Amino acid sequence: MAERDPGLSKAAPDLAAQFRRDVLEGLSRKNKVIPARWFYDRRGSELFEAITALPEYYPTRTEVGIFQSSMSQVAAQVGPGRAVVEFGAGSMAKTPLLLDAIAPSAYVPVDISGEFLRDGCAALEARYPDLPVIPVEADFTHPFALPAEAGHGARLGFFPGSTIGNMAPAPAVDLLRAMRQTLGDDAMLLIGMDLIKDRERLIAAYDDAAGVTADFNLNLAERINRELGGTIPLDALAHRAMWNERLARIEMHLEAVRDIIFEVCGHSFEMTAGETIHTENSHKYSRESADLLLLAGGWEPVAHHVDDDRLFMVVLAGAILQGRTA
Ligand code: TRP
Repeated sequence: MAERDPGLSKAAPDLAAQFRRDVLEGLSRKNKVIPARWFYDRRGSELFEAITALPEYYPTRTEVGIFQSSMSQVAAQVGPGRAVVEFGAGSMAKTPLLLDAIAPSAYVPVDISGEFLRDGCAALEARYPDLPVIPVEADFTHPFALPAEAGHGARLGFFPGSTIGNMAPAPAVDLLRAMRQTLGDDAMLLIGMDLIKDRERLIAAYDDAAGVTADFNLNLAERINRELGGTIPLDALAHRAMWNERLARIEMHLEAVRDIIFEVCGHSFEMTAGETIHTENSHKYSRESADLLLLAGGWEPVAHHVDDDRLFMVVLAGAILQGRTA
């Protein structure tokens, strides 16, 4: 895309201030860290779309394959007439696989970025002229009220892509509980969760040969330079993806390849060679750990759909009734 990204300062001053706070606070820590949400400016979102098509990045195509082969079973268990609520709707690329199968009463994509929502909705409205499409701009990590147009029937939450894995277990449980509260009793949840597998395959998915994931990671530093007046020497940072066995997660870092000093918003920071900025986690699950996470979040697993190579899992779960949780 040739259009220049204006950054956050004009479009969303609150977000710009938060970006600045997160970066200054995260770079001031002993173990430097920047929250992964800031990856997704326009270029970051484009690079992420490119990652999903890489030969090494198995999750997207594996999950789509599971949807294709299991969706009629899912539809039988879900039944018709539910309002589908998709969390972090993004490009809505996987949505038709679900909507084609289940005869929903409405489709409610939820995202913090209204801009992404509007693009995706137009395409879906054209494809499903009779389906009410009701976008909601909200931070879905907290419970929120669904619009009245979503109706009072049962809901189906949709959370593909193993996005849950980008949160550590404690906040992931909080998120599942918030979804449970947003969606109500009788709700079901269809969620993608990436499985633990051999470390070579895991690392390759986050460190591809063409270097697209490296560009994605480095774009965060470029964005800091562009939007926060940063002077980070980009040639001194290297993309690193490592498997943290103890915590069952892939970690992405930006590692200083030599000692550097730079400024962000007039504040000075230094990194010694080998020091890193931690930019992303992607937790992986066993069937048991996935089930326990869902149960802790108020969801009872109903069916597990796994590909033949056991790379990825799509779980259908039902809301646990509050009275029976004690
Ligand atoms: N949730 C997906 C995953 O962890 C998508 C994702 C988030 C991702 N951040 C990423 C993929 C960074 C590659 C690189 O795999």
